[in-house]
Parts: sequence; C-alpha cells; structure tokens
Amino acid sequence: MSLSDLYRKDFTIFKVPENEGVVYLDNAATAQRPQCVIDAISDFYNKDNANPLRGLYGLSVRATDDYENSRAVVGQFINSSCAEEIIFTRNASESLNLVAYTYGMQYVKEGDEIVISCMEHHSNILPWQMVCKAKNAKLVWLECDGQAVISKEEYESKITARTKIVSIAHVSNVFGITNPVKEIAAYAHNVNPECIVVVDGAQSTPHMKVDVHALGADFLAFSGHKLCGPMGIGALYGRKELLEKTEPFMRGGEMIEYVTRQDATYAEVPHKFEAGTVNASGAVGLAAAIKYLEAIGLDKIEENDNNLAKIIMEGLAENPFVHVIGNKDYRKHCGIVTFTIDGVHPHDISSILDSEKVAIRAGHHCAQPLMQKLGVGSTARASCYFYNTEDECRKFVEKVAQVRKWMGYK
Ligand code: ALA
Repeated sequence: MSLSDLYRKDFTIFKVPENEGVVYLDNAATAQRPQCVIDAISDFYNKDNANPLRGLYGLSVRATDDYENSRAVVGQFINSSCAEEIIFTRNASESLNLVAYTYGMQYVKEGDEIVISCMEHHSNILPWQMVCKAKNAKLVWLECDGQAVISKEEYESKITARTKIVSIAHVSNVFGITNPVKEIAAYAHNVNPECIVVVDGAQSTPHMKVDVHALGADFLAFSGHKLCGPMGIGALYGRKELLEKTEPFMRGGEMIEYVTRQDATYAEVPHKFEAGTVNASGAVGLAAAIKYLEAIGLDKIEENDNNLAKIIMEGLAENPFVHVIGNKDYRKHCGIVTFTIDGVHPHDISSILDSEKVAIRAGHHCAQPLMQKLGVGSTARASCYFYNTEDECRKFVEKVAQVRKWMGYK
C-alpha cells in the first residue's frame, strides 16, 4: 500500500466539493493539514486557552504546559540537546532573520566573510546582505554544477579562515537537491573553529529525518506549514551556548528578568528570544503535525516522495519540449521537480494546468539570483508530498504533455 492509500483520508481539504479532482502539487510552497492538526489547534482554544507564561491560575498553567510540551516535541524532532535550544518564530524566514539580526550583527566584523550558496531562497540571502552591508563584510557565493551539485572543490575553495558564517539550504526549493551540509559544516568548523553553520531546513524537515548533531548545524531554521503544521509558526534551533551569548532580537513582554528606568536584564533562553504573547495554538498544532509525521515515518515519506518524483521525471523525459532543471536522478529531488517548456511562459503553464485542476507553482520561487544564474526569468515547479497519489502524478504528466497544444503549437 502507498502512503496516500493510508493517509490521504486524514486530509479533509481533498473531500470538500470545491476541491474535488484537484491535483495539489504545490507542497513545497505549503503542505495541507491533517484533521489531527486542525483538532489540536481547536482543542487548545476550546479547552486550554489563556495567555501562557504569565498567569498563576490553572488555565494559564495548562496553556504554558501545552506550549512548553510542544517545544520539547520540536526539540526531539530535530534531535536538539534540550528543549531550551528551540525558539518559536513565525516561519523559517523569521528564524533566519533572527540569527542575522542577533548573532550576525553582534559577531561579524569588518573583513569577515559570510558564505551562502547560489540556490538560496531570498530569506537566506537578504538577511546576510544586510549584515555584510552593515559590517563591511563580504558575501561569498558557493556555485553548483549543471547537476545542481556543490562540489567539495567549490566549498573548500570558498570557505576560509575569514569565513564567520556559512548559511546554506539543506534542500533547495528549486532543485530539490540535498546539499552536502554535513561535509560543509565539518570543513567550515575545521578551517575556522569560530565559524558557525546556519542551515535552512524549510524544505528538508518535511521530507527526511533531520538531526542537528549529525549535520553539525549550529542553527537550523524551519517552518511549520510545510510539514503539515499551521501557518504562522516556525522554529529556530540554536546551540545553547550560542543562544546564551547572543543579544535578544525583539524586546518586550516576558523576555526580561528585571527592568529599571534605564536598563534591563533578560530572561534565560529560549524566552529571551520570544517577546510578547506567543503563538501557543500554533506551537500545539506544530507539535501535532510532527507527531503525525513521525507516526508515518520520515524514512517512509522520503522514499514515497522519491517514487512520486520518479513517475513525474520519467513521464516528463518523454517530452522533448520539457526540460527538468537540476539533477537527473529522481532520488535527488525530494519530491520537487522544476521545469520549463519550450515556447511557453511558466505562468501560462501554471494557468493552463490550473484550468485542468492541477495546482503547481510558477515564478522565480523567491530565488532570483538562481534564476539569473540559470538564465531564466522563471520556471514551473511541481512538488509532491506523501498524500499525493501515483495517478495524480500521471495526470500531471499527461496535462503537461498537452500544454504546447493549448498554446497553439502543433
Ligand atoms: N518558500 C516557498 C516556496 O518555495 C514559499 O514555494
């Protein structure tokens, strides 16, 4: 039995009449939520809602417990040493900005270098451009080859004793390729023991088991909504000693120890980084999503998504007008297949497929420097998840095969 046979029933969105027959292949943008996640959010509001971390009464204590238990679930999900190493944020973008605005602005000095890769999402480019401009540091780019691979020679030539931060996508949202983060992190830490490695896990955490220790990540950012959790909640993992020596990001309620008219001391981590009323229902929903994925098995999800990518890539390969961008091996796509069609703008591809009830993303995928490198303005992208069926992938291939005809080509 495939995973969709077992789990698609948990997703009510596919059962409503408006969505009947819709093939949803935009999972890299956001996943769907199973009923258990929706229930967990509504249970929080129905049963335990109060402002966490402040009240001394039973309801607030329960809300605090829900929130902190969710932190523990997130911590074990990515194998942090303790729950305090998890900071709740809005999404991966906020997590990456948090590291740049705090650790980056505090520790990067003039002449230092920050290394990122050519396939970063804007969320892992713009914050580092900001730090480099503010500190007169240099932004260094790792290039990939025609198969989307960042070679050993490439990262060994770009990461030097001047490198203060390496910040890299674990999985590219355009190519779907998994970068050699473990090898890059080991090399960076060896060349400069002061260098920290920040990992953008937005596209990897939904599809594979991610272990911050095995990767050698000092920070890891990810979003809840890409792994079946709610929108508006994400997490930042940070090594505790790094979080402790870093100034807070935002200042305000509940992140303090003591405030006087002139000064303030701060709460311990992680609360030092969580100013204001927190997104407790989001954290609870995220924990429910993580438990759901773990019950399925991240290894099974990875294998399943590879199989779906195989159907799509083999199907598209039969069409001489369609060009898949990235690696030739379907196992190196994490369920993401980005492509172009000769003579058809990606926006037209997406609109035509939409008229056939197939939902994919078209555009620059928030990776304009990568589009510039590839010499394209935009691309089309299909991205699968475990609830997609093999038939849906075949339908997608069939519809893509008709796109040029709809555009008037013979
Ligand atoms: N970062 C998301 C994507 O790649 C939104 O579509």
